[in-house]
Amino acid sequence: MRYARIGIFDSGVGGLTVARAIADTMPGAHLIYFGDTARMPYGDRSPNQIARFMREIIMFLLGQRVDAVAVACNTSSALALPGMQGDFDVPIVGMIECGAIAAVEASRTGRIGVIATANTVRSGAYGKAIASLRPAARVVQQACPSLVPMIERGEVSGEGIGRALRDYIQPLLAAGVDSIVYGCTHYPFLDAEVRAVVGPSTTLVDPAIRVACAVKSAVLARDPSLLGEAETPPIPPRFMTSGDPEVFARLVRLLLGWDPGRVEQVSIGTRG
Ligand code: DGL
Repeated sequence: MRYARIGIFDSGVGGLTVARAIADTMPGAHLIYFGDTARMPYGDRSPNQIARFMREIIMFLLGQRVDAVAVACNTSSALALPGMQGDFDVPIVGMIECGAIAAVEASRTGRIGVIATANTVRSGAYGKAIASLRPAARVVQQACPSLVPMIERGEVSGEGIGRALRDYIQPLLAAGVDSIVYGCTHYPFLDAEVRAVVGPSTTLVDPAIRVACAVKSAVLARDPSLLGEAETPPIPPRFMTSGDPEVFARLVRLLLGWDPGRVEQVSIGTRG
């Protein structure tokens, strides 16, 4: 018997919020994480580029013999995943459907805010996914382009973050949303700061836990012998980045409090 091996990727460190949820949900699983920091941010890349990057990264992870891949990037999930479902031999789980289900469950009034990258907002993916579950819902989106570069610099609190969040979130509150979806995997690292802006009565929705549950179900449905439960000490996660491994390691320590071990630098595809 062996435990499941799960590939996880994002443009950078945002997908660590999903890695954390998968580690909590499948404590025995071996996590293989790739952060495409050299080509980040994806928020303004063209859909064709994002699709190419995603195919390259999934092929790379399949070469690591993963049993499933979590697309821990809303931008890739929104722009590229729909055109690729079914192209691979292992389950590929994205963010949008899970985030939409979580949002619909969380919202009492059906007025739902989504904060995301410019690309995810332009795609309208959350609006469509939420409408398919709750047609009367009203989705109000807000692109937050300055947040990912700040988080990738390790800036997750302080005046600059507070000001940016107030600017981005006030229009959602003014529109009367009762819940806000983290439509970018980087944003849950700002949870305390977002809470300070929205106050106690707004529900903050992180799709990650649902994604982790979907990954676990998909893996077990395909091969029930991959238990995904720890009986022995779990294998430490393996971290890889296309960018600077030292910077990446520092961010894993800062954001998750995990010891990343030796972060490997791997180059996948071309830069542009
Ligand atoms: N973390 C990614 C997401 O969930 C994208 C960040 C970016 O590269 O712009 O959308």
